[in-house]
Amino acid sequence: MSTNDQPVSTARSDAAVPCASSDAATEQTTLIEPLARPLTGAVRVPGDKSISHRSVLFSAMAEGTSHVSGVLDSADVRSSIGAVRALGAEVNVEKQPDGSLTGDIRGWGSAGPSQPTGAIDCGNSGTTVRLLMGVLAPWDITVELTGDASLRRRPMRRIAAPLEMMGARFAPEGATTLPLSISGTRDLAAISYDSPIASAQLKTAILLAGIFASGTTGVYEPAPSRNHTELMLPGFGVAVESAPGEAFVRGGQSFHACDVDVPGDPSSAAFMACAAALRPGSSIDIENVSLNEARIGFVRVLERMGAAISVKPTGSAGEEPCGTISVSHVEHLRACEVMGREIASLVDEIPVLALVAAHAEGTTVFHEVGELRVKETDRLAAIVEGLGKLGVHAWAEGDDLHIEGVPGLVAPAGLAFDSLGDHRLAMTWSLVGFTGTHPVSIRDFEAVRVSYPGFRADIERLAK
Ligand code: S3P
Repeated sequence: MSTNDQPVSTARSDAAVPCASSDAATEQTTLIEPLARPLTGAVRVPGDKSISHRSVLFSAMAEGTSHVSGVLDSADVRSSIGAVRALGAEVNVEKQPDGSLTGDIRGWGSAGPSQPTGAIDCGNSGTTVRLLMGVLAPWDITVELTGDASLRRRPMRRIAAPLEMMGARFAPEGATTLPLSISGTRDLAAISYDSPIASAQLKTAILLAGIFASGTTGVYEPAPSRNHTELMLPGFGVAVESAPGEAFVRGGQSFHACDVDVPGDPSSAAFMACAAALRPGSSIDIENVSLNEARIGFVRVLERMGAAISVKPTGSAGEEPCGTISVSHVEHLRACEVMGREIASLVDEIPVLALVAAHAEGTTVFHEVGELRVKETDRLAAIVEGLGKLGVHAWAEGDDLHIEGVPGLVAPAGLAFDSLGDHRLAMTWSLVGFTGTHPVSIRDFEAVRVSYPGFRADIERLAK
């Protein structure tokens, strides 16, 4: 049974929940045919993945029953739902006609999470496991955390180290990867943490623990990462002080239930935007997307490349500004330079932006993108290899990615890509087929279930 077939409307609190697992990755190959027509019309992408995770986790931590709507129904978010159920939250959400999840989550509040009976499997979801460490650190329980083969390779020391400074313990000692277990404590001490990386997962884990620590916890980042946590916590009754690149919480606060409406995911929107930018004749509107500046760095990069892209604010979902992103194809794109400070605002969009850069005139440089090596796969290596198949020279120089664009690039016939179980690579390489002139085959295209299960249906609908 695929993860997306698992029922989500039954409350469970007593067992480890097997969640999304890319260990189940198929050997299956999917043929992606060129779209018969340009992309035109309007589309609504599914709920934002980062905000969906937070809506589930924060509701689980709260006293009372929160109402969530527009939640992304994807394998990753189901990992968060499975995890909080295993810890005692009651999740009663149902699939809506638009594919999103809406319903109630009754949190554990001041009673704290219950001791699960087995390991929590976080599937492919880095956000689930890393945020969960911050959720668990303030409670006297020991929880084993694991994930699929991809997640078991990803670095966890970056989260464990600051949480240890606060008083949590990890086993095995010095654990760098999953599986590991975390033992929390009611006696957490606040820290002031100079983070070596701009990571919202790291920042959030520390802040969530800090809410229960004695004293004020602060996180300083080398560049501002996405700020959904800072924007959402006040709705749950938790005061946060923040400025770009820093955030502080006072200890001893408690979470109260809240209503959360999740806007569309800019990272999913980026694939539609880039598809329209690449397919001649296209002109689309992507509606109800979060326009949070910490997330729409890809729009700024496409603007600099000369793409016809614009954003129109239409309102907000909670504290998140949202609106419409409009994109039309233009004949000529130019290379641009993307600076290290911008990377956090487009980190998940680099594979698809790299594909657009492959069509632009000149050499595009993405500076300081070493983090790509420790995403769901080594995306830096995958981009260089995948663009090479298109006949595009791309290379890494230290932590910088260079792409020598080929204006008028036509992908050769018979191309085959491997998603390596990485959802963003599956969508990126599929655009070679969808927007090109020859079909491409993609091994484990189904990895898209992690963030955008309806991706193929949405893009094909725009081309009808
Ligand atoms: C996320 C933060 C980013 C991003 C990930 C989701 C989040 O990771 O790549 O897809 O929801 O906080 P890092 O915090 O590791 O940069």
